[in-house]
Amino acid sequence: MSITFDPKKQSFILETRETSYQMMVDEKGYLLHLHYGAKVDGLSDHLLTFKDHGFSVNPYSAGEDRTYTLDALPQEFPFQGSGDFRSPAFMVKDATGTIGCDLHYAGYTIETGKYALPGLPAVYALYSDENVQSLTIELKEERLGLSVKLLYGVLPEKDIITRSAIVEHCGDAPVSVEKFQTAVLDFQYGTYDLLVFHGQHGYERQLQRTKVGHTRQAVGSTRGYSSHQYNPFVILAEQSTSEGAGRCWSMQFVYSGSFLAEAEKDQFSQTRLQMGLTEEGLSYELLPGERLVAPEVILSFSGSGFGKLSRNHHRVIRENVCRGVWKDRPRPVLINSWEAFLFDFDGDRLLNFAEEARDLGIDMMVLDDGWFGSRDDDNQALGDWFVNEEKLGGTLGELSAAIHNLPMKFGLWVEPEMVSENSRLYEAHPDWALSIPGKKPTRGRNQLVLDYSRKEVVDSIFDAICKVLDSAEVDYLKWDANRSISDIHSESTLPGKLLYDYMLGLYDFLERLTQRYPNMLIEGCSGGGGRFDAGMLYYTPQIWCSDNTDAVDRLYIQYGTSFGYPTSAVGAHVSVCPNQQNGKITPFETRATVAMAGTFGYELDPSELTEEEKAAVREQIARFKQYATLIQQGDYYRLSSPFTDKVTAWAIHARDRSESLVSVVYFPIRGIAGNAPTRYLRVGGLDPDALYVVGDTGLTLSGSMLGEVGFPLPVPQFDYQSLQYYLKRV
Ligand code: GLA
Repeated sequence: MSITFDPKKQSFILETRETSYQMMVDEKGYLLHLHYGAKVDGLSDHLLTFKDHGFSVNPYSAGEDRTYTLDALPQEFPFQGSGDFRSPAFMVKDATGTIGCDLHYAGYTIETGKYALPGLPAVYALYSDENVQSLTIELKEERLGLSVKLLYGVLPEKDIITRSAIVEHCGDAPVSVEKFQTAVLDFQYGTYDLLVFHGQHGYERQLQRTKVGHTRQAVGSTRGYSSHQYNPFVILAEQSTSEGAGRCWSMQFVYSGSFLAEAEKDQFSQTRLQMGLTEEGLSYELLPGERLVAPEVILSFSGSGFGKLSRNHHRVIRENVCRGVWKDRPRPVLINSWEAFLFDFDGDRLLNFAEEARDLGIDMMVLDDGWFGSRDDDNQALGDWFVNEEKLGGTLGELSAAIHNLPMKFGLWVEPEMVSENSRLYEAHPDWALSIPGKKPTRGRNQLVLDYSRKEVVDSIFDAICKVLDSAEVDYLKWDANRSISDIHSESTLPGKLLYDYMLGLYDFLERLTQRYPNMLIEGCSGGGGRFDAGMLYYTPQIWCSDNTDAVDRLYIQYGTSFGYPTSAVGAHVSVCPNQQNGKITPFETRATVAMAGTFGYELDPSELTEEEKAAVREQIARFKQYATLIQQGDYYRLSSPFTDKVTAWAIHARDRSESLVSVVYFPIRGIAGNAPTRYLRVGGLDPDALYVVGDTGLTLSGSMLGEVGFPLPVPQFDYQSLQYYLKRV
């Protein structure tokens, strides 16, 4: 059993292979959090201490007992109105504008299997996942007539616990939900660091580690998307925690819209970590009978450092979030037209492009932006989802047939959530774009955002996109979204509900799309990695990681991304030099090494390659295909960090440890290369007792030797040189 309830102690224990999560209902009916961390015997209720805390208020039910205050007790779902003045998870406003509630325990149910969240992405269980159970704890708010159900999913073999919550209005006057966090972890003692993944367009998911001091640290997004700026994945770690040792806890939002993650050290040096919907702009009115579902948060704990924590997330994302036929299948090596042509192409050019790519061994040609309406630059035609047959010199069906004849697969780019003012769609339906009456809307890339909270908008774009897809053989779709949402006003819903309802509209579209085209591979994208989250991965098993294709910048971007997301999700391509985004020149081989830590493909015009480069591409593709399953399904180990080390290295071990692919990129050396100090590399995580042949070094070393002692790397011959070692167990 992974979930147990002790009626005597009124306690719940959720257990995974290595972790235990504990809570209890106290005699006043409040749900207290006790422990999340390594598996322990017994209940840790002895940690609760009671004393008269100055200036901390007491609930009425405590009578004259001043030692009982929720301001100091660890809570499972803190709410505003309880006397806990730390940041709450739940705030609800009544019809008079008064905020304040009192949530008491009302009961529980335990079920076999993993709960689902209708309309929202969520972790699901596989047949092979053993002893998966779900717990629902109900809390009731009498005055307002609310029922709050806290949901817990336990995946014991994966060391994963999921959380969600549903507030249901069973009363009779409207209320509005002003804050609704999904998951909270209260730590009664300890000194922690918060790890967040910040960035910007073209430089996403940069790791920042800071001490949690006596302040409230908050990261999140109010952009309507999870955003380039902060990823909805955070880690709280003890200060000594490193890649391979120490305690750390993670929260990962299975949601693609605005979010908030907070870490707070309180007056008694207790720490609270929480994640959920952003409170800014949220004011979700609930009429009697209505309900609101808090999107899911995936929790994990590792007592042995960040590497293990990341691998827990990699597995759950790969196996229990991603769906569809492409989940486990090796993905096609693709070539994308964007960096090759931008908008400047016609049918002949595309066909030549595909032919050249086919000759190099590439599996699929993706036609990026510019194939529809009058879209010859990025100022117009979004929303006009009909093929520009004049530009293509024929129908899309003809083009896709010609490409399939080569033979190659065919992919297409779309940006369905947007509209250009200069478009037929906007002319016909100006009110479909989000804007505030009487205020000119903000533009982003000269485009506006469609109101996806409106069903007729979603339905109409869905029909238009399906018409295009039905007219040709489309094996792959790149789903882009190239601006943040502003001008929060809709004809169909209240401003405080709009961003959430928008996401429901988007997910509804994506769900219908995946059902109608079950064999089509969909790659997510939002100006690169602006919506790189577990919510999108439920519909699109891979996401374009960044518009920045420079191999060196990608080392940092992919390093940060690897903390929460598997290589199977990371869209990565080889592009030309000087790099189009930052002008950097890196070795061709290094660009391939870095792109092989992802789905692998090309973003260049093969007709401009030298014969030598063409030969290199052929060899790279053959090599990638040899390792594709290992890369996609293996266990990822960060061996060093681009932020602190002279070489950036990572390894992907087969699950059974029979083989591994180790990749290394050298950073520039100062001075004379020949006189440089030797660098050494340790490769942890292999079978300690097995022997491995280490690439073509001539070395055969045990897993323990590789992990504890390592081996010397050759002196690099040029800046940013890369190496790959294939390790095979003998
Ligand atoms: C975004 C994407 C790019 C490309 C362009 C097309 O920036 O991230 O890969 O598709 O849009 O306009």
